[in-house]
Amino acid sequence: MSKGELEVLLVDAEGLAGADVIGKIDPYVVIQYRDQERQSRIARNQGRNPIWNQTLKFPVYSSGINNHIQHKLTLRIMDYDTITADDFVGQATIHVGEVIALGTEKGIAELPPTKYRVVLEDKRYHGTGMASSVLLMGALFLSSMAVFAFPNEARAKHTGTTRHYSFDIRVANVSRLCATKSILTVNGEFPGPRIVAREGDRVVVKVTNHAQYNVTVHWHGVRQLRSGWADGPAYVTQCPIQTGRNYVYNFTVVGQRGTLFWHAHISWLRTTLYGPIIILPKLGVPYPFAKPYKEVPIIFGEWWNADTEAVISQALQTGGGPNVSDAHTINGLPGPLYNCSAKDTFKLKVKPGKTYLLRLINAAVNDELFFSIANHSVTVVDVDAVYVKPFDAETILISPGQTTNVLLHAKPTYPNATFFMMARPYATGSGTFDNSTVAAVLEYQKPHSSSAAGFDKNLPLHKPTLPAFNDTSAAANFTGKLRSMASALFPANVPQTVDRRFFFTVGLGTRPCPKNQTCQGPNGTKFAATVNNISFVSPTTALLQAHFTGKSNGVYTPDFPVVPLMPFNYTGTPPNNTMVSNGTKLVVLPFNTSVELVMQDTSVLGAESHPLHLHGYNFFVVGQGFGNYDPANDPAKFNLVDPVERNTIGVPAGGWVAIRFLADNPGVWFMHCHIEAHMSWGLRMAWLVLNGRLPNQKLPPPPSDLPKC
Ligand code: C2O
Repeated sequence: MSKGELEVLLVDAEGLAGADVIGKIDPYVVIQYRDQERQSRIARNQGRNPIWNQTLKFPVYSSGINNHIQHKLTLRIMDYDTITADDFVGQATIHVGEVIALGTEKGIAELPPTKYRVVLEDKRYHGTGMASSVLLMGALFLSSMAVFAFPNEARAKHTGTTRHYSFDIRVANVSRLCATKSILTVNGEFPGPRIVAREGDRVVVKVTNHAQYNVTVHWHGVRQLRSGWADGPAYVTQCPIQTGRNYVYNFTVVGQRGTLFWHAHISWLRTTLYGPIIILPKLGVPYPFAKPYKEVPIIFGEWWNADTEAVISQALQTGGGPNVSDAHTINGLPGPLYNCSAKDTFKLKVKPGKTYLLRLINAAVNDELFFSIANHSVTVVDVDAVYVKPFDAETILISPGQTTNVLLHAKPTYPNATFFMMARPYATGSGTFDNSTVAAVLEYQKPHSSSAAGFDKNLPLHKPTLPAFNDTSAAANFTGKLRSMASALFPANVPQTVDRRFFFTVGLGTRPCPKNQTCQGPNGTKFAATVNNISFVSPTTALLQAHFTGKSNGVYTPDFPVVPLMPFNYTGTPPNNTMVSNGTKLVVLPFNTSVELVMQDTSVLGAESHPLHLHGYNFFVVGQGFGNYDPANDPAKFNLVDPVERNTIGVPAGGWVAIRFLADNPGVWFMHCHIEAHMSWGLRMAWLVLNGRLPNQKLPPPPSDLPKC
């Protein structure tokens, strides 16, 4: 074994960015360990919960054995939100098992007594083509800290590093809006922990279910190339993880950089089970824009005072619309416009003249959102983990399932003011929605002041003006600006020819009320939602397993219609009989089929925007418009040069969108509206992409721990 360097990131776990100076530490550490003990050491360390208590102990083994290997550790101290690799702050020397004090003794000045997150990353393999080993993430105070040592170099297979995470699903009590509620969390954190990986890295997440609900976790937007077993939607690619069981999700991030997120993918558990996925460029590869001073995830969510599992099961029972949320949140916090919530306000602390990368994620359950920062415009640089041609915007539209990276250029001089960052829905349907507004605070640090004294609480406060709830032209104006880079470095590989064309209607409808029941949907019916007028019925075993084992009989049928069976004037006066049919139908595609799909909103129960999400692929948005799609004239206007590439697209209210993708990833891939209410009503279907001829065009067999139904 050789000598190597480890990298330790010490970062603020409060989630506050900006001027929170973390301080300095000497990053020169020698540790010794027994390589052959790696497996047992991982197990033991993961079970531990070292108390931070202003000391940092490296739980590594050091003595009594042959094969001691010395490694130098580079300690990097970084703000929690400073996640680019080269924000090196200082150095420290630590010896095996040594406890370093986070005070001044070891030259660690300025470290506030707060929460830190420690990341150990093995630098030896970066860019060397060797496998990697190490990653450690644990929020001290919050979750366990573990140190993984080096694997055998012989195991090397891929170019990136491997990043290990443990997700323990368990209940925790969280107080919001004047009440305390028990919610499902990962590792007790809400929002959940962030996954940080570089392009090319393997991510291994062991999910253990300690809760009374069955769960699955989906890595939303991760391409899952030939790793469909790790995708996560319940009864699509896997059976749920039952109480007391675990499942290891194992996938590699290929050709993506930006922001994605993970969330539970069963029933409405994603209401509280979600967190960011941060994909950095490969080590040493710059962003296609000036390097930001700090990076800050901004994750939008919705908060219910009620138990959301009861909310959706009651709605499905009565056929009525589910109760709406009580608040929107930013990083789990509703902010000062809600009762009892001034203390639950996200604050972004910035320095004048600096640029901040905000990683916006819409993890809300049912609401598309407008977002704006008072007196600041932002530059959009990336959506759904794909770079876009930069453009400036005062208001962002972000739909559930979408992510948007924006650059916030702080004002060049201290502005003597504080600014609200606010979000509230873009809502087009006729039903009720949560019309409340989440606010976070943008605060400037006074020049030449230390972090604690630099923020003045008594400054004038500016509020942004957000578009009206139903401002569809504001929405279209924003989405119309998105373009792929389409450069040599970041090409837009838009399919120029099409093997198969599909036309799907998406929208709401009704199903009859069962006899002897009264229903609360439109005119005493039950709400339903459909694709091509079929409301998708979830099977009781996983589609991918059924396909892979050749036991699809009675689970699904491969006859999802290519076009609506009964055409009508989709955006005009709806026909009288809107009763939908039920089915578990798939579209089957040979490997490498080039697909064009037009999705058409219907006005059956009123025109409404639907953010459609496709698993396993990014697609190109080659065209969109209002009214009915015109197959004779619209294709000529398609953009096949630099259309935006993404994984979730809003089908415009009363309009259509055309997408293209190359079906080069074998597996079963869910496609659904990311508005959870619509998804629960059946606005979902799945594509089955068959294996290709070559070995690397086939889906490997499932991992042995794949859950059983
Ligand atoms: Cu973010 Cu199928 O979901």
